[in-house]
Amino acid sequence: MSTNPESAPTGPADEQGAPIGVHMRKGPLRPGQRVQLTDRKGKPSTITLQRGGEWHTHQGVLRHDTMIGQPEGIVVANDAGHEYQVLRPLLNDFVLSMPRGATVVYPKDSAQIVQVADVFPGAHVIEAGVGSGALSLSLLRAVGDHGTVNSYERREDFAEIARGNVEAFFGQPHPGWKVLVGDMQEQVPHQESAGAADRVVLDMLAPWECLDAVRHVLAPGGVWVSYVATVTQLSRLAEAIRASGAFTEPEAHETMLRTWHLDGLAVRPDHRMVAHTGFLLSARRLADDQTPLQLKKREKQSEVTTEDMQAWLPEDAVWDEETLKRRTVTGRKARKAAAHSQKLAEAARGADDPAPSQEPSQDTVQGTAQGTVQDAAQDTADTAETGRGPRGGAVEQEET
Ligand SMILES: C[S@@+](CC[C@H](N)C(=O)[O-])C[C@H]1O[C@@H](n2cnc3c(N)ncnc32)[C@H](O)[C@@H]1O
Repeated sequence: MSTNPESAPTGPADEQGAPIGVHMRKGPLRPGQRVQLTDRKGKPSTITLQRGGEWHTHQGVLRHDTMIGQPEGIVVANDAGHEYQVLRPLLNDFVLSMPRGATVVYPKDSAQIVQVADVFPGAHVIEAGVGSGALSLSLLRAVGDHGTVNSYERREDFAEIARGNVEAFFGQPHPGWKVLVGDMQEQVPHQESAGAADRVVLDMLAPWECLDAVRHVLAPGGVWVSYVATVTQLSRLAEAIRASGAFTEPEAHETMLRTWHLDGLAVRPDHRMVAHTGFLLSARRLADDQTPLQLKKREKQSEVTTEDMQAWLPEDAVWDEETLKRRTVTGRKARKAAAHSQKLAEAARGADDPAPSQEPSQDTVQGTAQGTVQDAAQDTADTAETGRGPRGGAVEQEET
């Protein structure tokens, strides 16, 4: 076991040639890295290690230096003897504990998106909107060091949060990632050549508004995946894709994740779960001037009148945060999250900053990838407070 913090590599330069972000994920624990501390009750808290730093809770003071230079998986005690298990947050944990403005795609859905969209190493992916950058992290991981992700976001303050989060995760800016501020449907025709993208992934309220942009940028055979929260959005998008004639028949699914309680003979599903996050809709780009195959089963079923469709999806429907009962994130909240994510990025960048803050760590957050029940509990609180659904579940509660 290495006990000498000075021997710990300090950053990307120490591991030349290694894939982006590897230095943040293995080896001894270093200043600037995030660690997840789990107490005996299973409650996780996440802090950023600093030389000379201290983590203050009502249970006492834990010195960061007891962890720096040590391997993951150690158990450390604070000055009052309370013990914590120390591990680096996995991508799933990181996403659930990072600062956010917009609601993030849950890890179970990010995994599905990467799989359904068939995101491969070296691919060029277009993403919109970026929000807090949770999905960007999974896409960047999947395209690897030789791939590229161009992410469009209409809100500069959200883009700022995402930049901080992505840099904090990889420990450096990702060379294959560009964040472009503006509406995807307006930007893409100017920024991207026709057929340049292998994959397009959208997470926004009105993805059908981007249909022409997707048609422009997606290569023949390329996959388009959209993540939407309600069936009305799903239906609107599916019909728009069909009407365009430029894509294969759209397919949709959702994923439900049920965690299990494991205790001796008491092995059963957990009592609570996040019952709904969103739906995935996918379709593939046809070559230009092709007519999509009319599926026989659809012909038999398509006896829907225009009146039926008008009743279900009125032309004049307004698709915004209010009508879809989504939370509107204030500029103030977004700025606070951006400052927080930038602070984490700075810590991750300057891994061995010799001037530790004398204040107790203020960036402690709670969250766990496994902790669906905890998320759900937090989500319930959020829902009560803001009227938003579980997808908006915030676990970035600061603990001072
Ligand atoms: C739910 S959030 C995305 C969350 C993100 N996928 C994540 O995992 O962190 C939706 C984002 O889409 C952005 N947005 C909505 N419509 C857009 C458009 N047409 N072009 C670019 N961004 C858009 C919003 O500002 C918002 O930040």
